[in-house]
Amino acid sequence: MPGSGGRLSIAALSERDKKESNSELRSVVLNHLTEDSRDVLLDVGGGTGMLTETLSDVFGQVLVLEPDLGRLEYGARRRPDVGFIRGIAHRIPIADGGVGALISVAAFHHFPDQDAALKEMGRVLKPQGKLLLAEIDISTVRGRLLRFTENRLMGAGSKFLTSAQLLDKVGRHGFVEPVLDRISRGYIVVATRDAAGNAPLVTSW
Ligand SMILES: C[S@@+](CC[C@H](N)C(=O)[O-])C[C@H]1O[C@@H](n2cnc3c(N)ncnc32)[C@H](O)[C@@H]1O
Repeated sequence: MPGSGGRLSIAALSERDKKESNSELRSVVLNHLTEDSRDVLLDVGGGTGMLTETLSDVFGQVLVLEPDLGRLEYGARRRPDVGFIRGIAHRIPIADGGVGALISVAAFHHFPDQDAALKEMGRVLKPQGKLLLAEIDISTVRGRLLRFTENRLMGAGSKFLTSAQLLDKVGRHGFVEPVLDRISRGYIVVATRDAAGNAPLVTSW
């Protein structure tokens, strides 16, 4: 395996079999994005930047926010068109309104404080910016198996939401025009940062 001293690294393994789902995700992203949200794309929990790289031709700049150093270094070595930032979803080191589109794929269930993450996402998105959250569907056998593996076998404490729960949460954080699409890895919620540029605070749960 290139760059891993002959051993198969976890990062390299995680890139296998993703090409097809990434091309599907690229189409979904392009279908939902307006011209004016195609300036800066931020991929939160973007791993090695495999999907992010496939979108580098349509955005002015593409960035991955990722806490795992191994994934960051692997991606940074291979993907010169992608900017890699080390960080976590509920503390994004980007200025208010700094990105036009924010995507997060199969990562939201890992965030320990999903509400704080959504608040941060609303802060860094510019008014009318697009939020795209792709998640595992726990109403499917595959989804339930993944949840069992992560939480029961690995003790990850991941918080998987149904599509209805995620749609509701996104709305409570002031995102508007929510849309739900099916994708092969699960579902994707797409919503828009409100035009006033000021996501209302969550008042009730
Ligand atoms: C299942 S992987 C998905 C990676 C990539 N988005 C993809 O689809 O291939 C979940 C990713 O979320 C990252 N992650 C976990 N906790 C996070 C947090 N609090 N903030 C941001 N990313 C996080 C992990 O390091 C990992 O790269």
